[in-house]
Amino acid sequence: MMVLLAGLQHVALAQTHQFAVNVKDVKGQVNPNMWGVFFEDINMGADGGIYAELIKNRSFEFYKPLMGWTKEGKGIKEGDMLVLTRPDKANNPRFLRVKVDNAGKGDATLMNEGFRGMGLKQGLKYTFSVMYRQPQNGMKLYLELLDDKNNVIGMADFVPRSSGDGWQKQSAEIISSQTVLKGKFRVGFTGTGVIDLDMISLFPQDTWKNRPGGLRADMVQKLADMKPGFIRFPGGCIVEGHELSTRYQWKKTVGPVEERELIVNRWNTEFAHRLTPDYFQSFGLGFYEYFQLSEDIGAEALPILNCGMACQFNTAELVPMEEMDEYVQDALDLIEFANGAVTTKWGKVRNDMGHPLPFNLKMLGVGNENWGPQYIERLKLFEKAIKTKYPEIKLVYSSGTDPDGARFDLLNNELRRMKVDIIDEHYYRSPEWFLANANRYDHYDRKGSKVFAGEYAGHVDGKIKGAERNIWQSAIAEAAFLTGVERNADVVVMASYAPLFAHVDAWQWAPDLIWVDNLNVYGTPSYYVQKMYSLNKGTQIVSLKQGNEFVGGKDEFYASATTDAAAGEIILKIANVKAESRAVVFNIDGVKKLNASGKLITLTANSLSDMNSITDPTKVSPKEEPIKIKGKKVQLTLQPNSFSVIRVKYN
Ligand code: AHR
Repeated sequence: MMVLLAGLQHVALAQTHQFAVNVKDVKGQVNPNMWGVFFEDINMGADGGIYAELIKNRSFEFYKPLMGWTKEGKGIKEGDMLVLTRPDKANNPRFLRVKVDNAGKGDATLMNEGFRGMGLKQGLKYTFSVMYRQPQNGMKLYLELLDDKNNVIGMADFVPRSSGDGWQKQSAEIISSQTVLKGKFRVGFTGTGVIDLDMISLFPQDTWKNRPGGLRADMVQKLADMKPGFIRFPGGCIVEGHELSTRYQWKKTVGPVEERELIVNRWNTEFAHRLTPDYFQSFGLGFYEYFQLSEDIGAEALPILNCGMACQFNTAELVPMEEMDEYVQDALDLIEFANGAVTTKWGKVRNDMGHPLPFNLKMLGVGNENWGPQYIERLKLFEKAIKTKYPEIKLVYSSGTDPDGARFDLLNNELRRMKVDIIDEHYYRSPEWFLANANRYDHYDRKGSKVFAGEYAGHVDGKIKGAERNIWQSAIAEAAFLTGVERNADVVVMASYAPLFAHVDAWQWAPDLIWVDNLNVYGTPSYYVQKMYSLNKGTQIVSLKQGNEFVGGKDEFYASATTDAAAGEIILKIANVKAESRAVVFNIDGVKKLNASGKLITLTANSLSDMNSITDPTKVSPKEEPIKIKGKKVQLTLQPNSFSVIRVKYN
């Protein structure tokens, strides 16, 4: 058997597959912001994920006000810890009143379990903060970090000042003496008195850019490493909401954090087999923070706004046409918030939050996976109002839930008739679909609306669950498909995999690009595919052919070529989706000469079912090596089931 296999391998290598690249045959330009990310607060991507707050239900605004909290201690009598409301705080009315009488340590405590526990790191400082009102001095608080068995691994005292009737904020620091994956937090009350508490918060100090109340640095870094060209936010279906009252309203996500009205996350109840009753949106990560994140990592912001329709898989509630003004105004105001002078109403809000300079918003999406004539009717209102006031803003509209079928055809035809800027296409499909559709864009109208491949992912058999769906079989099919996207980069101007993040203990939807637990983060094979495209995008598409054809599936090869004009480099990408090594030669025309050495980056795996994991995070990850070039030929042997990027300098 071994002899036979070796023989087959020999036969495969003996045949060299020829490809012709012509650097002078430029097919179009590559949008510098082409490869981006799609962020949605799904799978605990924001609260419990990238938003580094460790306390779940810090403001007691969950449906069950004490969800996430446990009262403990023999000193707590009925009526000693009560949830009250205050009429002056419509967005955050609830608070907790705690009464103690001569309480000692351990007599009256409140423990918070975190989102799925709290990741705590040895030696790291944590900032505790709370808003409180204490009519008279008398009570003392103590703060404890706990491991998963409730052993104390960090401790600080907290002495509140008397605040009379007013509310004040006070902070303290605690250091963790150990690293634990599923820690907890406890606040204890001693002495005698009454105190009102709200916004009980605990943040690690190692946030992204060390911003207080900021984002998890390791998760942001994973994004920054991709050098994404854009960030689409905040979704996804949460833009639409289960019903209109729980749609995403950006104006409620800016300004002081304690003023941002918490609402349920629509992924809380979406899937009966993955109910997540403790999933809410605190909006600690709100529109200002999304813009700031985009700016931090050099990505264009692409906000998506509700178009006057709730999710059509849920209530499908519609805003009557005569009541659409508020929605359209939200879009106009968002542009002012992002780009307006500090003297404008919304520019001032941005300025007050710490960003006097504009965010330089260039594009905006209206509607997510909405469909039907009711969507077209509504989006026309946005088109007219925005293009009249801000003609420079590019607008993105949905083509529905699927890349084909009646819904897609209706929207695609109408949007193209309207000559809209960009049409957002989504495809969650089998790996086989991705391979079979790699030439999808070869025949798209070059002069019409552009395409945003806004959500895509290879989905293997639905019986496989969670992170185990992120296998190499899907990723290599995506890599192959994306050669067709890159080849048509004059039409497909942006692309993003979806969803972006998932917490291993709190996901609703899989596969996802990046998985996390409370302390760790890893990129899936699909992450590395996206990253290879993003870091090796080039500036112009050049022709790459096998015989007379583009390389889109023939002999199970998928390939594309670009050049980076500034760097003087040719960038070749090729997926070999056959389970055998194959020798290939790229004959490069249109150059005087090639450098004698180049770079080969290969992503492959031993098996199509290989995947990465928390314990083996880079099992499927790119390997880089130098390659020798002879004359104007790039010759190499592609590994079985592999995706390769080759970079060679030329004159
Ligand atoms: O990415 C997950 C969901 O898929 C998005 O919220 C929605 O747009 C699509 O249906």
